[in-house]
Amino acid sequence: MEDALEAVGRAEKANRAARPVSIDRDVVSRPSTSASGTVHSFLRHLRDQGLDCVPEPLGDRDGTETLRFIDGAGGGEGWYHQHTDQGLASAARLLRTIHDAARSWTPPLEAVWGAPAVAGDDVVYCHGDPGPWNFIWRDNEAVALIDWDYLHPAPRLSDVAYALRWFVPLRSDDLSLAWHHFPEVPDRRHRVQVFLDSYGDLPAFDVVDTVVARMQATSDLCQALADQGQEPQRTWVSDGALEQQAAEIRWVREHRHLIV
Ligand SMILES: Nc1ncnc2c1ncn2[C@@H]1O[C@H](COP(=O)(O)OP(=O)(O)OP(=O)(O)O)[C@@H](O)[C@H]1O
Ligand SMILES: [Mg+2]
Repeated sequence: MEDALEAVGRAEKANRAARPVSIDRDVVSRPSTSASGTVHSFLRHLRDQGLDCVPEPLGDRDGTETLRFIDGAGGGEGWYHQHTDQGLASAARLLRTIHDAARSWTPPLEAVWGAPAVAGDDVVYCHGDPGPWNFIWRDNEAVALIDWDYLHPAPRLSDVAYALRWFVPLRSDDLSLAWHHFPEVPDRRHRVQVFLDSYGDLPAFDVVDTVVARMQATSDLCQALADQGQEPQRTWVSDGALEQQAAEIRWVREHRHLIV
């Protein structure tokens, strides 16, 4: 765990606050992390196979990585595009396509992961943060997945569980309405099924337990990084992020009847 945490410590995600993402015509510039070289190798492998659903890496120098801009709606717009079954299903299919296509990638010998590698069944290269905000949307469908800073090997269910939490969403009624902007409280059981059917071909698994374990892992990592003094995790923890996450985990545990 120590090594893995050190890898994340080097990810320098905190640089973001000082030098945010900028877009100039069709080029996106973002602060590099020590994982950027590995991420670019990964993206290049997918692009070489003809996948246009991840950004084309253009360069990585002087602390800035550049990537090709992908036309469409991103960021906060994602909350709206995920409301329909069409949007939800398209994101699940896209995640599946990327997971499968990436299996043939050979990482660099000195690969640096953006999050700790996780052992287990059916390990693939996981995105680590596949929420609606990190997809690019066009014509009501997800067409690309961006922001690969957390790339790491992990069981594919790790990304699936993370996506279920944010897409279904597996969150309270209030958050579904206020944060995710659903016009009415979504039918979570239906949306879990749409996502899983569209992702396709998964062994049976306990959705609640798997999502809870994924959320707990995020929380534990945040705590460990904060304990090392890393920002922004230290500030998140002092602002009560772990208590908030614990409450959200409790919500998932206590609402199994709405989920499966
Ligand atoms: N390759 C790209 N093509 C199109 N838009 C992009 C691309 N990269 C970034 N963007 C836009 O810039 C926004 C922020 O980029 P990105 O997600 O990479 O950074 P971030 O700081 O990690 O954001 P967050 O923490 O909100 O996920 C995206 O939501 C999207 O709107
Ligand atoms: Mg992002």
